[in-house]
Order: sequence, then structure tokens, then C-alpha cells
Amino acid sequence: MASKIKIFVSYAHRDESLLKKLKMHLKPLLRQGLIDLWYDRNISAGADWEREIDKHLETAQIILLLVSPDFIDSDYCHGIEVRRAKERHERGDAIIIPTILRPIKWQWLLGDFQALPTSTKPVRLWRNQDEAFLDVANGIQRVVDKLIARRSVSLSPPKPTDSQREASVEPEYTQSRRQRITYAAVWPTIYEYDAAFRDASTTVYDADVKAGKLSYDSRPLRLNLGSKYVSVYKMSDWVVKCFFTNILINDLTIAPPPDIRERYQAINDYISQHRPQLPFLVPQIWVEKGIKIDGQGWPFIKSKFIQAPTLGVFLADRHQESFVNATLAKQWLEMINTLEALNMAHGDLNITNVLVCDTFPNLTLRLVDFDSMYVPTLEGRTLYELGDEHFQPIQPGVRRFNNEMDRFSALVIYLSLIALDEDTQLWDRCKANEDTKLLLGSDDFRDLGNSAASKLLRAKRSNRELQQCLDELERSILEQRMPRSLADVLQVRQSVRQAPHDDTSMELPINLPIQDPPS
Ligand SMILES: Nc1ncnc2c1ncn2[C@@H]1O[C@H](COP(=O)(O)OP(=O)(O)OP(=O)(O)O)[C@@H](O)[C@H]1O
Ligand SMILES: [Mg+2]
Repeated sequence: MASKIKIFVSYAHRDESLLKKLKMHLKPLLRQGLIDLWYDRNISAGADWEREIDKHLETAQIILLLVSPDFIDSDYCHGIEVRRAKERHERGDAIIIPTILRPIKWQWLLGDFQALPTSTKPVRLWRNQDEAFLDVANGIQRVVDKLIARRSVSLSPPKPTDSQREASVEPEYTQSRRQRITYAAVWPTIYEYDAAFRDASTTVYDADVKAGKLSYDSRPLRLNLGSKYVSVYKMSDWVVKCFFTNILINDLTIAPPPDIRERYQAINDYISQHRPQLPFLVPQIWVEKGIKIDGQGWPFIKSKFIQAPTLGVFLADRHQESFVNATLAKQWLEMINTLEALNMAHGDLNITNVLVCDTFPNLTLRLVDFDSMYVPTLEGRTLYELGDEHFQPIQPGVRRFNNEMDRFSALVIYLSLIALDEDTQLWDRCKANEDTKLLLGSDDFRDLGNSAASKLLRAKRSNRELQQCLDELERSILEQRMPRSLADVLQVRQSVRQAPHDDTSMELPINLPIQDPPS
């Protein structure tokens, strides 16, 4: 079994009772052998405690800071451990998770990090502390999942298939990893971007973004968490995406695809040719000279900020209304059919890249994040993203960079929506949540026959559409292939919607404007 994710806990001794409660909520992860939790009570009698602490702090992949007035007041926790933790976080060696136990103004010290509970309301102020700790444990689990997924990508290249072996062709992922290493040092680091955005009035060239205010008062500095090579900031009405070079724990360096500029050019050209059919794509504008770092202008991508929840957040809140699920399922099918008909694929459909706009019954879906998008003019390019494991085939090599890339995710999302329409309780029973998975996830795909969630869905025998989707999912996994298109599975006609759209964001130039800096 792979080694456990090491978690170091920095806390004030007055908060020990709360730490014990948190530990109880982490029991499932401990029992599964996924994590190893270390805090100073684990030091055996007679050991050199300072050295022991150092040793564990230096090797942990996650550093939990249990924040309270006593924690901030403690010279050791706040002084030594936080400083060291920040250094390791900045080098990309560890991830800091501040966990807010008791009220204190913590943002000035730790505002750059994604804190828990998700709402950042201190655990002590929750009416039900178990709920608070459950939220914290879920947040930790998400980071653990990401680290495990990252490890499986970086340490275990997929085995070549027979035909690849015969033809001596390297599997696609291995090739792309090599290229990433070669092109590694091309972009600034994430910390250079963080610093530059804090000082936007002097660093940003783009007039819209320069006029914006960086939003991070009580929230993390970035909109995204733990990304491989993109950093996303909100500047008033704009969302800005930057590409960075990432140095990983095992000295592996990851950078964006070397042809990222060309890809966005091709994507935006293609979208602009088919703009009336694609009102659901939030325009992503490439700004060639976006921000100054180290005396040089760097590109970024800007998109109008859409004030709307992600599909995950929306469903977590509204899944109990079966009409809402039915409306979303219909929209989803239309959107996927349109992409299919235009021979394109978003490439990373999940519950965070889909936004739910407007109000029922006029709900509309929008897609953001085109980093993995396929359009026909990009045929033959390399696949760079494995995608979100809860929305992608588990077998390596099944997902290839082509117009079929969305089929697995489209099916998983669609079947979740129609199943929720049938029985809203499936949300809880299948352990769906707002930012990781819907009704089925990677554990289910690995063993669909024994998956409890799959059995619950199979029990809805009279729902023909749902059973057709499950049949296709099962067969595609068994046969190690992409599922057929949703239209084929459901035997519906693939029609392209030509609806004009009244969205103001569509007035933006969708092509790549190369913007000069204001003089
Ligand atoms: N224009 C926008 N309006 C509103 N929210 C947005 C917009 N663009 C992005 N977001 C939000 O920010 C999140 C991160 O952006 P994006 O998906 O582009 O980054 P990412 O490449 O997926 O980063 P990561 O790999 O860390 O998830 C999205 O999941 C979405 O919730
Ligand atoms: Mg995304």
C-alpha cells in the first residue's frame, strides 16, 4: 500500500480537547490507513521534543494549524511552527490548512490559505460542534484525496496497452510529463503572482483588471485550491487566471502545456465561429501583456465574474427540489448535444467548472475553465490533464485528447441529475457533496458491481433512462472505452440550439485581443 499522507498538527495545549474531537472525526481516514496524524502528545518520554517536532514538521505533507487566541499567543506555535510551515508551503512541499477553533482575527496572519470550516466560522461558535468538525474533516479529506491523486499521477505512469507496446508508443501521459519537465522554468511562480496581484495598481497592465480590487478579506487569496499550474484571482468584476511553474515535493516540476497560448487562440477562434450556438461558454479572454513580474510582462486570461454558484454548491442547496434537478438535466443534455454536434469537448466537466445562473424555472448552465478544451483545430495535440477523478474513466489511456473527451463526465453528471429528479434522498445516501463528487465517484467506478451507490441507483428499475445510462457506464468501464455520446445512449436526436443570448458577458470580444499596456 502507498505510504500515508502525513499530517502535522500545530495547536495550543489549551485546545487539546478540541483536537481530540477533531481526531475522532478523522478516524475513518486513520482507519483506512490514508493518513498519519502527528501532534506533540505523540512524543515518547525522554525524547528530545524539539527535534521530534522538527522531524515531523519537516516531513508532513499537510500542516493543520488549530487557530485560537492561545495559538496566536503561543510563541512556539505561532512563531516557530507557523514560520516553518509557511516556508514549506511556499516551496510547494506542504499544504497549510488553518482550522479556526475559536474567534480571533486570524486573516492578517493566515488569510492566504484556504481555512476550515468552509465558512470559516470558528468551530466553537457552531451550535452543533460535531457538524463543524465534520465539515473540517471533509475539507481535510478533499486535500488528502488531491494529494493521493497527484501522487498516483506523478509516481505511477500508466502501463502501455498491447498495441502501444507493439508499436513502441509511449502512453500519452508519460510523454506529456516529459514535456512539462523540459518546459518547466518558463513561467513565474505562484508566489510572484500573489505578490503582484496584491500590488495590482503598479503591476497590472490590463486596464479592467487594474481597476479592480483583489477580493480576499475573509477568504483565500486565490479562487482555486491546490492547482497544478494555474492560479485564479478575483479582481472586482473580473476573474483572472495566471499560469505558473510548480515545483513539487519530489523535485518534479510542472508547468502549463508549452503550447497553451496557441491552444487558447485555437479555442477562441473556434468558439467565435460558432458563437450563437455557444452562449453557455463564459468568454475567456487572453491578455498577452497582463501583469508585470520581474520586469517582464506576462499573459493572463480574464473572464467576467459570474455571480452564480457552482453546480456542486447549487445542488447541495437545492437538490431536494426535484423540478430543479429535472430542469438542469434537460439543460445539461442540450449543452452536451451542442458540444458533440460541434465536435468539441470542454475536457474537464465537473461540479466546479459548471455555474448555475438565473433563478428557477429559467436556470441556465455556464461553463468556465477551458484549459483542457478540445476543438477540431487542436487535433493531434497532447493530453495534459487527467481531469477530475470523480468524473473521468479510471483506466489510463481511455480518455484521449479528442472530441469524445467529455463523454464519461457528461454521462456521470446527467445520470446524477435524473436520479436526483427521481429521488432527492439519493444525494445523502450516495454521499454527494458540493465540491467533490455527485452520486458516483472514482471509488464506485473502480468496482461498480460492489458499489453501494450504484446499487441504490440500480434499484430505480422503472427509470428507463437512468438504467440506460448505468448500462452504458458499466459497459464502457468493462470494455475500457469511452461511453457513447449521451444522444446515442438515450437514442435522442442531437440538435444544436441556435438561441440568441441576452447575457452581457457575450458582448465581450471572444477572440484573442492582444491588449497593449496603457502608457
Ligand atoms: N468567470 C467566473 N465567474 C465566476 N466564477 C468563476 C469564474 N471563473 C472561474 N470561477 C470559479 O473559480 C474556480 C477556479 O477557476 P478555474 O476552474 O478556471 O481554475 P482551475 O484551473 O480549475 O483551478 P483548479 O485546478 O485549482 O481547480 C472555478 O471552479 C469557478 O468556481
Ligand atoms: Mg476548474
